[in-house]
Amino acid sequence: MKRKIFITGVSGFLGWHLCQKLQPTWDIYGTYFSHPLEIPGVKSAKINLVNESELKNLFLSIQPDAVIHTAALSQPNYCQNHPTQSYAINVQASRHIAQLCADAAIPCLFTSTDLVFDGLNPPYAETDPVNPVNIYGEHKVLAEQGMLEIYPQTTICRMPLMFGNPTPTATSFIQGFIHTLQQGQDLKLFIDEYRTPVSGTTAATGLQLALNQNIQGILHLGGKERISRYEFGQLMVEAFQLPKHHLQACRQTDVNMAAPRPQDVSLDSSQAFSYGYNPPPIAAELATLSSF
Ligand SMILES: NC(=O)c1ccc[n+]([C@@H]2O[C@H](COP(=O)([O-])OP(=O)(O)OC[C@H]3O[C@@H](n4cnc5c(N)ncnc54)[C@H](OP(=O)(O)O)[C@@H]3O)[C@@H](O)[C@H]2O)c1
Repeated sequence: MKRKIFITGVSGFLGWHLCQKLQPTWDIYGTYFSHPLEIPGVKSAKINLVNESELKNLFLSIQPDAVIHTAALSQPNYCQNHPTQSYAINVQASRHIAQLCADAAIPCLFTSTDLVFDGLNPPYAETDPVNPVNIYGEHKVLAEQGMLEIYPQTTICRMPLMFGNPTPTATSFIQGFIHTLQQGQDLKLFIDEYRTPVSGTTAATGLQLALNQNIQGILHLGGKERISRYEFGQLMVEAFQLPKHHLQACRQTDVNMAAPRPQDVSLDSSQAFSYGYNPPPIAAELATLSSF
């Protein structure tokens, strides 16, 4: 009989990819909030994770053998403008999940972010000090710290920027880029913002590895290439044969955004690489995706 895994946020971009990856080996119980969906082989339930008693009742009725907590308010600009809501879901609900996992003594994986860093001293290893520059990053740091305090066996996976095909209820950042270029409109991308992106599929493989190898503490799951948003756009134009001349370079200072953005939060993920995590080149990942 398969063991039971509880995955929060299966209606999200990463949660859906995780279900595809884990479905053959786990009995999956997933949650959604505002986007109902059916995933073959996954039992899904609607829940507002900030409702502690609702979460506890669902958790106790499932009695999972492991948890992966991906649900979040994941848009930095939205969190900047809605800090109370961000704190409730990104910090308080995460701490509550760690408590439930501690009480049941089961593996607890949390998806944090490269945005816990200020971007001034890349690449960042797990041991480097955090210093977030926006509310989203601050709340992820508070969640990491709170979860580890409540349950030191928690696995904190810091995720990089992720891309991939749209899922039934979520998209990644590339869909907007592709749409803009396909409409013949200009797309301005930063030449001074660097990340270490991976696809949703690769990110899910990294989380599976962390779970299977029972890694505890912090683990970086970045890709192998440090790349600017603009360079990423160039690879995308190539992969999807999009009109090149509409891709334009700009700087972070050219755009007004609610949340300040760090310049270079490239992750040093050599620890995960040594465990067997092996993200393919970005161009190769893009070549497997669709431009629709
Ligand atoms: N995407 C990235 O590039 C990236 C980079 C670094 C880290 N991360 C982290 O990775 C994780 C997954 O990101 P993602 O891009 O997959 O996020 P996403 O697509 O925005 O999905 C967020 C998920 O959280 C759920 N959710 C939001 N508020 C909720 C609430 N109050 N109660 C219950 N569920 C709620 C959403 O449910 P509904 O849609 O049904 O409302 C959805 O399933 C997040 O923790 C994020 O911070 C993401």
